[in-house]
Amino acid sequence: MKYFLDSAKIDEIREAYDTFGIDGVTTNPNHIMNSGKPFFTVIGELASFVREKGIEGWQRFPVSVEIDPHLNDADEMVRMGAEIAAKCPNFVIKIPCTLAGITAARRLEQKGVRTNLTLVFSGSQALIAAKNGSLFVSPFLGWKENSGEDPRDYIRDIVTAYRNFGFYGKTEIICAAVRTGKQFVDCAVAGADIVTAGLQVFKDSFYHPFTDYGLAKFQAAWDNTVTE
Ligand code: E4P
Repeated sequence: MKYFLDSAKIDEIREAYDTFGIDGVTTNPNHIMNSGKPFFTVIGELASFVREKGIEGWQRFPVSVEIDPHLNDADEMVRMGAEIAAKCPNFVIKIPCTLAGITAARRLEQKGVRTNLTLVFSGSQALIAAKNGSLFVSPFLGWKENSGEDPRDYIRDIVTAYRNFGFYGKTEIICAAVRTGKQFVDCAVAGADIVTAGLQVFKDSFYHPFTDYGLAKFQAAWDNTVTE
């Protein structure tokens, strides 16, 4: 399972790349707003980052960039998606899973622009993303769990449906809005291809108090041992 960072802040992306070896990045309009920078400045920084690291190309390090969420016409979505994609070979165009979005994603894929169907909350939405050839589908876990649902069956069902129809591995399942280390494990057990989460979720999930406890114990032992 691959790890993507959900952020548009270049310092966070750099830290996650250097520390956790993240395999890609997902952004959304919220993350761009939180970066405090203009949209085209942020995507310019993302393009510079992949050039600097020598990881150009969506096959090596995909970076999802979402189109204007106000767009509800497939032609306009395609136009904006193609404009963004032309700026960097790593960009995968994130499109909401509406009827216009599904149409636009299908057309973009036919033109060779890779897409990520986002705001996916049901198995049937996930199936249409795969049928239309999107590179990624983004079912949101955290939002479902917040509203009292257990998202494990949801992810398992998408994995099973993709396997049954030969989509598994062609349209990769990005478990999105992941909030905890337990959800990382749930996604891995269910057979998801990718998890995307914020930097703090990564940091928290790799922390365990017993590691600190054990380290203190071994330090004490070291201090009470003659080395030569
Ligand atoms: C995923 O691709 C989304 O950007 C993300 O997970 C959205 O959810 P959140 O901002 O609530 O985490």
